[in-house]
Amino acid sequence: MDFTAETATEAVVESFRHTDDPRLREVLESLTRHLHDFVRDVGLSLEEWEQALAFLTAVGQKCDDTRQEFVLLSDVLGVSMLVETLSGAGEGTESTVLGPFHMTESPSRELGDSVDLLGTGRACVVSGRVLASDGTPLPGAELDVWQCNEEGFYDVQQPDVQPPGNGRGLFHADDQGRYWFRTVVPSPYPIPTDGPVGRLLDATGRHPYRPAHVHFIVKAKDHLPVTTHAFVADSPYIDSDAVFAVKSGLITDFAESYEERDAERFGVGVPFVHARFDLVLAPEASR
Ligand code: BEZ
Ligand code: FE
Repeated sequence: MDFTAETATEAVVESFRHTDDPRLREVLESLTRHLHDFVRDVGLSLEEWEQALAFLTAVGQKCDDTRQEFVLLSDVLGVSMLVETLSGAGEGTESTVLGPFHMTESPSRELGDSVDLLGTGRACVVSGRVLASDGTPLPGAELDVWQCNEEGFYDVQQPDVQPPGNGRGLFHADDQGRYWFRTVVPSPYPIPTDGPVGRLLDATGRHPYRPAHVHFIVKAKDHLPVTTHAFVADSPYIDSDAVFAVKSGLITDFAESYEERDAERFGVGVPFVHARFDLVLAPEASR
């Protein structure tokens, strides 16, 4: 059969007929149908197709061990958040994007330690509890935390200014599921714009900023882990995150506190900024 605009899709779908893995076959078939429909829908010209290939090539060429431009592309197209949301546990704290600044080995710290190794910022305490969906505390839960500094940079972006591990910590909740650590209030910051994804944002009049946030990955025995953020409630860009990661349940007050007893317990002076952020994990059997 001749390859024509009418027969093209079925010809390609048919070519995957012998794929052993049924899921791979399903995904490739659907991808083919959607891609072909997209080409027909916008009437893609040869020149535009070449531009698209050059763009994707540039995205690949920008990737190295520390830079993942494809993840960034997926983020700004909302695909990361869509996949994340569709695979979420459905109960418990909502998940959001991992982002490119997570380190596999955050430095292990004691409850109450500061992740602000330079001690230059405004004192801030983040505290809360790790709970099961029924409200039972989860003692010993692991909290992997990372954030940028008050200028909006992660340690890895400023190796000459910040010591490795600044803004990062691996904590374990106490016997009542409580956690607390000292830090500084993070800033909004732009995602990396010195690559093709930055050019895409520029060409479409989009800003590259993310609202201020603290990242968490929280794990506890017999529960599903959650990858999420506590977003600073009054942060700029809270309604226009460049990667669409804000969920209203994650917006947290970082409020000035004059509570002497809390300050003493946390080892800070008054006033200090206090963010309370509980994390709820769904049982493992719920997915
Ligand atoms: C982050 O929050 O670290 C992040 C997420 C997506 C893209 C860039 C940065
Ligand atoms: Fe971040």
